[in-house]
Amino acid sequence: MDCMVLQGGRRLTGEVSISGAKNAALPILASILLGKGTSTLTNVPAVRDVLTMSKVLTHLGASVEARGDRYTITLPGVASCQAPYELVKTMRASVLALGPLLARWGEAIVALPGGCAIGARPINLHLAALEKMGAEIRIEHGNVHACVRGRLKSARINFDIPTVTGTENVMMAASLADGTTVLENAASEPEVSDLASFLIKRGARISGAGTDVITIDGVPELRGADHEIVPDRVETGTYLIAGAITGGEVRVVRCRPDHCDALLAKLQEAGVALKVEKEAIQVRAGGPLRAVDVKTLPYPGFPTDMQAQMMALMALARGSSVITETVFESRFLHVLELQRMGADIRIEGNHSVVTGVERLSGAPVMASDLRASACLILAGLAAEGETRVSRVYHLDRGYERLDAKLAGLGAQVRREAERV
Ligand code: EPZ
Repeated sequence: MDCMVLQGGRRLTGEVSISGAKNAALPILASILLGKGTSTLTNVPAVRDVLTMSKVLTHLGASVEARGDRYTITLPGVASCQAPYELVKTMRASVLALGPLLARWGEAIVALPGGCAIGARPINLHLAALEKMGAEIRIEHGNVHACVRGRLKSARINFDIPTVTGTENVMMAASLADGTTVLENAASEPEVSDLASFLIKRGARISGAGTDVITIDGVPELRGADHEIVPDRVETGTYLIAGAITGGEVRVVRCRPDHCDALLAKLQEAGVALKVEKEAIQVRAGGPLRAVDVKTLPYPGFPTDMQAQMMALMALARGSSVITETVFESRFLHVLELQRMGADIRIEGNHSVVTGVERLSGAPVMASDLRASACLILAGLAAEGETRVSRVYHLDRGYERLDAKLAGLGAQVRREAERV
């Protein structure tokens, strides 16, 4: 296992280019299972979760040819309807194979994804919706076993919670169902919209993606298509905070500012100077940072995937901020590590009360999940002295070449094999 070693205190300056969104690439890759043919995807991020999903597709019968950010994928048919546990256990997003396999091939066996550091992460809403569409579902030996005779049937689905991958799974399944399916209280994240636009290019009939009501008229089959993955809004926010927390001046390019409204509003409220263009955002620290309250919500609210990174910034702001996590039940593991760096944070239920301090001090810290790792890297960039972030394999799941991109902005950062 590697660790990331940072020498803090350097102002980041320069330009950084954003990669494709991991959370758009994963459902789009899974949707390949919805039909035979060849699709070409570009702007695919070089992150470990994408490699894992590619392995799942290959195991199921697809051929995947990757050349840089360009993936050419052909599905002649499926060799198996079972996503193997040894792959699913490393990436819960493998559950996205469930809807497509079931809808197109009539059967799907996918290992039940376990919980993770940020919560139990159940998939009950996925399964209830598919059952309502006629699937027979049983859980045995740690697998979800779903099957349907003939086509899935359309249904009206109202999600208790606007689940992102639940919306994606059911939208994919409904694209081949018999009749019109309506998803209410659907997730409206940009990644859902990007999946929908890819499916529509392939012949699906979907309207309302990007809102909380999505209507899908099922079609008999889908063909291949070409698609460019939408830029990653979480990677965008991470580099904006890297510029702000180091008092630097960073230009983030090839991004979608229109997908970042809630974050940009909070950064400006905190005194961060932003210059927003069509596909770029310039950030510089506009004087002392002000503490602001943050509450995570489903899109278009403040993204839970930016909560930890915002906390790192608030740890150095003037005053106290209350950060409330409403999406996941235990997404404060980074607090304990920030406290090791001198942050003044008190957890009260699903609130963290952050009182800004003059400075953070570098320390050995441990990553627990993808976004907590990013938070600790950001804190390390601003802290005095050396910070060693261990277990950075979490980072590699969702950030493309993070160390190289940060070094390109002037950060003193290197990877090292973890000392045992
Ligand atoms: C997606 O996870 C993202 N992952 C997550 O990003 C992101 O944090 C999350 O959406 C929220 O925006 C991918 O897209 C691959 P949910 P997902 O279903 O779909 C509960 C990252 O760092 N729930 O929207 O798994 C659930 O427990 C990752 O890139 C049920 O109760 O999240 C949670 O409390 C982390 N039953 C809430 O809903 C269900 O059947 C939202 O979860 C499904 C979800």
